[in-house]
Amino acid sequence: MRSIIVYYSLEGNSKMVAESLSNLLGSELLQLEPKDPYPTGRVSKFLSGKDALSHKRPELVPYEFNADEYDRIIIGTPVWAGQPAPPLNTFLTENDLKGKRTSFFACSSSGNAAKCLKKMKEMAGAEDDAPLLSIIDPYAKPSDQKIQTIQQWGIEVIGRFDSDEDWDLYDTERQPLGKTMKRGSDIPDGAYHIVVSVWMRNSEGRYLMSKRSDKKKWCPGMWETTGGAVESGETSLEGAVREVQEELGIELDPAKGRLVRSVRSDALHDFYDVWMFDVDAEPDEIRRQDEEVSDVRWMTAEEIDRLWNENKMHVLLDYYKEII
Ligand SMILES: Cc1cc2nc3c(=O)[nH]c(=O)nc-3n(C[C@H](O)[C@H](O)[C@H](O)COP(=O)(O)O)c2cc1C
Repeated sequence: MRSIIVYYSLEGNSKMVAESLSNLLGSELLQLEPKDPYPTGRVSKFLSGKDALSHKRPELVPYEFNADEYDRIIIGTPVWAGQPAPPLNTFLTENDLKGKRTSFFACSSSGNAAKCLKKMKEMAGAEDDAPLLSIIDPYAKPSDQKIQTIQQWGIEVIGRFDSDEDWDLYDTERQPLGKTMKRGSDIPDGAYHIVVSVWMRNSEGRYLMSKRSDKKKWCPGMWETTGGAVESGETSLEGAVREVQEELGIELDPAKGRLVRSVRSDALHDFYDVWMFDVDAEPDEIRRQDEEVSDVRWMTAEEIDRLWNENKMHVLLDYYKEII
């Protein structure tokens, strides 16, 4: 799943929302810049507001964007005279976002952003129930409450990401049943999906462990290796490579993956595949998806033993001694 936040910001408020969401969701960022920058200051506000009211489309500094590369697109703007800032008019006219999953946010000084959000939704041809956020000057007048509002909205947007995920179903012998199910719905009796757990070992013999975010409903704050459910159409190995890319930003070479364990669980309705990769990645190369992961460390087998003995490791990793 790849997502991007496209925004314009004159005074830093929309920029702050975009950057907080990008940290939370691991999204890319695209800041739009008009070729002739809009001035700041009171007098010029009137003229800029007029541009917004007449739906001007100023030429933008060249940017690279291909909607087909993204599953989710979040679009943000300041409210100008009740309207989206003009650079958004240019962007939404230059790019066809029909059929894309889009969400929109708007910063204003009054809190009155309904018209602006509606206009952007129309221009993008977005679904009626696209998630919307209106927030008052979060950078100029910051508060904990506003940060929470931004994060909650981010979680709502992620919720939409999750609920669209399909899983392929398999029988007890791991033969495809030719059926899929939506994540979050009950798995039928006799059906299983595939879950991967990915271990990475560096040339010093240390293993990459990540700490689950405190915001997770299940096992918050516990240490684990990266993993998750394989999506419809993916192989187990493809799912393993994607999970690591999404959660840590590390590009694994699929050719280097070794399946070191695979177990069927009737209680959890899954085939649990454990993959091992030899890989070196500097900690600062690792881009954490803050919503999922709060810390990442290369650890020795002894340190991992200690985590387990102190009940700081995810219970599903009880097999770790077999593989490290
Ligand atoms: C030209 C201009 C017009 C504005 N018009 C409105 C408006 O109609 N309603 C409102 O609530 N705020 C208005 N504002 C305030 C901004 O929407 C608000 O401060 C926003 O948080 C700025 O976002 P930014 O820092 O990303 O540029 C206007 C600001 C500018 C510069």
